[in-house]
Amino acid sequence: MDHHLQVTDSRTGKSYTIPISGDYIRASDVGRIGIPEGKTDTTASKAAKPLRIIDNGFQYTACMESSITHIDGVRGTIRYRDFPIESLFHQYVYEDVMHLVIWGSLPTQEEKDHVRETMCKAMVPSQSVKDVISAFPRDAETFPMILAGMSAFAASDSVICKTRHQQSAMFHGRLDVADEALVRTIAYLASTISLIYCHKNEKQWNSPEPSRSLLGNLLLMMGITNPEVERCLAKLWILYADHEMTNSTAAVLHAGSTLIDPVSAVTAGIICGYGPLHGGAIDLAYEAFRQIGTAERVPPFIERIKAKGGRLFGYGHRVYKTRDPRVALIEELLEGHRDAVEANPLLRVAMAIDRYANQDAYFVERGLKANADLMGCFLYTAMGFDTDMIIAITILSRTPGALAHWRESLTQPVKLWRPQQKYVSPLAN
Ligand code: ACO
Repeated sequence: MDHHLQVTDSRTGKSYTIPISGDYIRASDVGRIGIPEGKTDTTASKAAKPLRIIDNGFQYTACMESSITHIDGVRGTIRYRDFPIESLFHQYVYEDVMHLVIWGSLPTQEEKDHVRETMCKAMVPSQSVKDVISAFPRDAETFPMILAGMSAFAASDSVICKTRHQQSAMFHGRLDVADEALVRTIAYLASTISLIYCHKNEKQWNSPEPSRSLLGNLLLMMGITNPEVERCLAKLWILYADHEMTNSTAAVLHAGSTLIDPVSAVTAGIICGYGPLHGGAIDLAYEAFRQIGTAERVPPFIERIKAKGGRLFGYGHRVYKTRDPRVALIEELLEGHRDAVEANPLLRVAMAIDRYANQDAYFVERGLKANADLMGCFLYTAMGFDTDMIIAITILSRTPGALAHWRESLTQPVKLWRPQQKYVSPLAN
């Protein structure tokens, strides 16, 4: 049976039938409301303007149709390309899941080899990229260094540079060109992060190898040789391979809708990824752990938050008000690093906060739990990563997912993203 809304506009007395498909209606159907049928003179009625929707924070608005990731925030389930995240986590590693998310199927060895080789070539930085990174003071913030590194890589990529000088769309409907460019974009980010890490830590940068995966080469370029780190991250990153329409994925698509290249689109996403209410919450959470210092000082800190003296960063999620399925899987990984977690002073504070918040009515009633984004960072800390590199690496783990959405958008009609505003002033009436 077809479902629909039957709506009457009290201004005109006119009724409208708005089809419901799944749980969605089309905004264009809402836009039909207010336009008098058959009338071209739009001044004839006070309701001549199309009805529009105000949706602060896009909480009820879908801007894409996608078949990449399905999240059910109420039941607490995530599926990539219809595979439950739990089975992917237990049976595969990130490289397989990255392929699944971007291209819709698990990779053959030949496909993996092709991606590895393309990435490896792209990871080798030109002198200008190296110069840009090394021009920063060693204690500079990681975030602006990433933006500079990505810009330097973009400037040395002839295909990317061509994007703005061609009359026809460079990537839209041309998936072969897009695929190579998106693989290079991921490689550029990995290489940039490794160069920053080496520059900050005065370490020698190692060349990547074509036989290694993205993660394997990231660690090689950084000079991190512990195989346990790769084993653990190859599982952890599965949990961040995609998270459908995140703030930063939306930014990638927003920029992408101008037909810009993938390096620039990803850079827009990285900028959002650093904001305090998004990925930047991690930095603030760690800053709080440092300020609190010891587990005994946790209760007064939380009481201040409850009195609306700020937010507990790393807690709460727009989608999950019950259970984030990734948390249990991260706990599995954390169990293997229990000793390192308990020995780390910052993580001892983090765990004390978690125990307190999990029993406190303020947090329980609002469904506020440590989000998977913060929990995953505990593993990085336990494995010895500095806080300022953690967020950079987490952004890399998410970039293939954002690019999967960019790629998907290339198969759909071009439509420049341009939201509306409601102009409010006495003149508006
Ligand atoms: N600490 C304290 N109180 C909180 C928190 C928090 N972290 N998050 C929400 N609340 C409270 C709000 O004050 C509000 O309380 P009220 O009902 O008394 O007014 C209630 O919970 C609902 O909060 P909203 O802001 O409406 O929830 P929303 O779904 O819009 O916010 C968000 C989600 C932005 C993630 C929020 O929980 C938050 O600010 N968390 C801290 C920042 C953070 O960790 N962001 C990372 C998210 S994950 C990611 O982006 C990759």
